Order: sequence, then structure tokens, then C-alpha cells
Amino acid sequence: MTYFMGLDLGTSAVKCILVDDTGRVIGSHSVEYPLQQPHPGWAEQHPEDWWNGTVQGIRALLDKTGVSGEEVAGIGFSGQMHGSVFLDEAQQVIRPALLWCDQRTAEQCAYIESAVGKEELGRLTGNKALTGFTAPKVVWLRQHEPENYERVRHLLLPKDYVRLRLTGALGMDMADASGTLLLDVANRRWSQTVAERLDIPMAWLPPLYESNDVAGHLLPEAASLTGLAAGTPVVAGGGDQACGAVGVGVVRQGIASVALGTSGVVFVHDDAYQVDEAYRLHSFCHGVPGKWHRMGVMLAAGGSFQWWRNHFAHEELARAQAEGKDVYEILTSIAETAPLGSEGLIFLPYLSGERTPHPDPKARGGFIGLNLRHGKPHLTRALLEGITFGLRDSMQLIQESGIEVTELRVNGGGARSLFWRQMIADIFGIPVVTVNSTDGPAYGAAIMAASGVLGEDITALCEKWIQVVDRVEPNADNHQKYEAYYQIYRSLYGTLQATFHQLSDLAGQA
Ligand code: XUL
Repeated sequence: MTYFMGLDLGTSAVKCILVDDTGRVIGSHSVEYPLQQPHPGWAEQHPEDWWNGTVQGIRALLDKTGVSGEEVAGIGFSGQMHGSVFLDEAQQVIRPALLWCDQRTAEQCAYIESAVGKEELGRLTGNKALTGFTAPKVVWLRQHEPENYERVRHLLLPKDYVRLRLTGALGMDMADASGTLLLDVANRRWSQTVAERLDIPMAWLPPLYESNDVAGHLLPEAASLTGLAAGTPVVAGGGDQACGAVGVGVVRQGIASVALGTSGVVFVHDDAYQVDEAYRLHSFCHGVPGKWHRMGVMLAAGGSFQWWRNHFAHEELARAQAEGKDVYEILTSIAETAPLGSEGLIFLPYLSGERTPHPDPKARGGFIGLNLRHGKPHLTRALLEGITFGLRDSMQLIQESGIEVTELRVNGGGARSLFWRQMIADIFGIPVVTVNSTDGPAYGAAIMAASGVLGEDITALCEKWIQVVDRVEPNADNHQKYEAYYQIYRSLYGTLQATFHQLSDLAGQA
């Protein structure tokens, strides 16, 4: 039998899966690693932890499934995007990587927009400077750790570092490279102009690949550590959002996805390169060769629900444990008992600051409209409604640019709840479907590996392996009722922005 391995190097864990040549997932194994937050708003990880986790994960997966290394025909990578891995001449890690959720670079973003020119930066890269992106992290290193900066010879993204350890080859795919702010996204090549204006040596930037290109072969040392066979082809893979979209079959115009993880991402496939006029959406290369996508990223979607569970759901947590249930299922059923609109209550989900459509590390969350009638059901429902309104903001930008979205594929932890899927359909006014593949980015990475090794195109493989299993139609009456709440939600960020900034400054936060 022939198998393909998909690896998803996430923020909290690396997930390894094995897929057979009919697209069936035959096993998965995850290994967690820590996240360091040395200052408020900072987020770092040690690349060595990613490497050890990946080696351990692959070995455990092979043991668990009984598949031998020789039967694995190809490996694909998905990875958390934007993180900066700085390597020296000997390809040794210089310092821990700054991650996608690190908010320390507001000043460096302003510097980049003035050094390149705001309009010019958008024209050259398709994007604006955001604190999560990679180039601002390079500028930060130059300004704050010049001794480390002097030693840099290579710049990689997280999964590319692990691929380097597995294959000895430097490389990066177009989709992940799009989030560095150094890629000419329209032309799928590094932007020499941006690199020169920021004084970042082009020699630091690795060779570029499409996601299903073979970017290296397994080294004998890596083979003996993992149990895989030396010489196994490793494809370039993609950033986790592109891989997640491939993993649920968002590979054609008109299909969009909503990924409900810690962050919330609205993602749409584009056959041609497109930008929205103020670069509020990210315009990136897709993991499908020669295609693009746009996306809006909300920083605390599932993250807001997790915060609610951690701090205000002790009773439900105890019940879940006693009854062997999922605490989110219990919370959602509590939310269901409150009426649509939560009796005039709106939740603002900016608990980690925000990215789309308000790129503002100082944005803050809140419940607006509280009165004495409101209890836990209202607050829980308002929380889910507020997260969904935040996602609708991104969909609004996609639709305003003229794209007609006919189907929304919802995935990630939040997709399990029918109540939440119906709420999304009603708030967006678009049918919501779920598909048979539930392994997200790791599954997309396995598809990329299969495509690279078998020489079949990604779109064809998605159509063969991925089927719609459930469809929820929007309720027109509810859509109209939600619309009134959504218009109020939309006005609140502008009304409260100055207050958010005062509060975050007062607390000495990012
Ligand atoms: C995308 C983004 C996240 C990270 C973390 O722009 O920042 O999806 O890749 O998973």
C-alpha cells in the first residue's frame, strides 16, 4: 500500500497524519510544545521544540498505524504562518522565533510603510504591514538585537525550518511566503524592490516553490530518527490557511471557507490575483499552483469561546467531566435557550486586539447593552453572535469586491455545532456545508504530497477525495433580524476605538 504523510506544525502542537491512496485518513498523532511570552504581547517558540515534536510525532504515528517507512511515498507540510526563523551561516538557529500572534512590531510596521510607501507596498506585495507578518520582525531584530541581526544569513518560516532539518534543503512555498511582506504576490517571486528599501539582503530569502513541488528528499539521519525511508520526497507544502482550504476543497471560484480555530479565518479562492482597494483583506498566493486567495483573519474566534469556558464555565466543566460530554456542546445548548440577538446584547470579540477589518493591537473586547434580564444564556449566545459578526466583517469585504460566494465550507472545532453552523448561515445569508475531511491543514498537506508524487493536480485530487456531507440553508427571516444587530455591531469599533486605546495604554499593554 502507498501512503502520504501530512504534517501540520501548529502553534500549540504538531499534528501528523497518514492518508492512503484513496484519500482515507488511517491514523493521526499530535505532540504539543510550549509557547513563550517573555513580555505582554510577545509570543515566541524554540525551533528545536518543533523539530523534536515532529520527530516524535512521525515515529509514534508509524508505530501506531503499523505502516513502514518504505510505504510512505511522500510528505507534505502545513505550518503556522509568518513566524521568523533566523539562521546563521552554519544554518543554526540564532534566537527563538517570533510568532504570527506576536504584537511587538507596531513601530516597525509604521517604519516599513514609510520606507516603502504605503501605496507602493500594497502595489508590490498586495498587502499592508501588519504586526503579525515577517518583515516587521526582521526590522525589529535589526533595531533591538543588532548582534543577532549581524549573524543572520537565512530567513525561514516555521515549517521550512523543520523541512530543512529533514532534507537539508532551504525552500519556501508561495502561499506561506505571501505572509512575509517580501513576496511580489501577483508575480509569485521575491520583491527585490521591497527587500532593497528595507535593506534586507535578497540572499537571506530561500528558493520559492509551488506547494506540490518536491522541495527535498529525506536525509539518512532524519530517516533513522523518524523511521521513514531515506530519499522520501518532501513537497514544499503551504501556510496553514492555504493547506486548510485545500483540505476542505476550497479550490474553485465561488467557494469560501470559515476556519473556526483559536483565530477565525474567512478564505476565498481567486482564479486571478485580486486586492481590495485598501488592502484590508490579505491577498496571498494559494496552495493551488498559479492561483490566489484572499482572507480576513480574526484573532480571537474560538479563542473568545475558550476564554469564556476557562473563566466562566466551571459548573459546565464539572458537568462535562461527570457526564463524559464536551463542555462546548453544553455551553452551546445553554446559548440556544436565549433568543436571537440575545435580547439586545452585543459581544465585541477583540480579546487579542484585532487584524481584519480593524488592524489594531489595542482593540479590546466587551459586552455592550447589558441589563438585569441578561443571564448566562444571553451572554453565551451574544459571544457566539459577536464572533460570527466579526467573521461577517471579512465576508462583507470579500463580497464588496464583487465575488459571489455560493457556498461556505465551515471547518475547525467550531464546525461541530449545528447551532453555530445555522447561526453562520443566517448571519452571512449563505448556505453552510461541512465535508468528510476533518483533519484540516494536515489533510491539505497530505493532498499536496500526493499531488507532487503522483503528478495529479490538487484540484482533481480534492474533487476525488472530498465530499460534502451536510448542508444548512440560511433562514431569510433570521437573516433580516440579524442584519439590524450586525449594523450596530459594525458601528461599535469606531465608537469605542479611542476608549480601547486609552484602556490599553493605561494598563501598559501592546
Ligand atoms: C494567518 C495566520 C494564522 C497563523 C496561525 O495569516 O496568522 O493562520 O498561521 O495558525
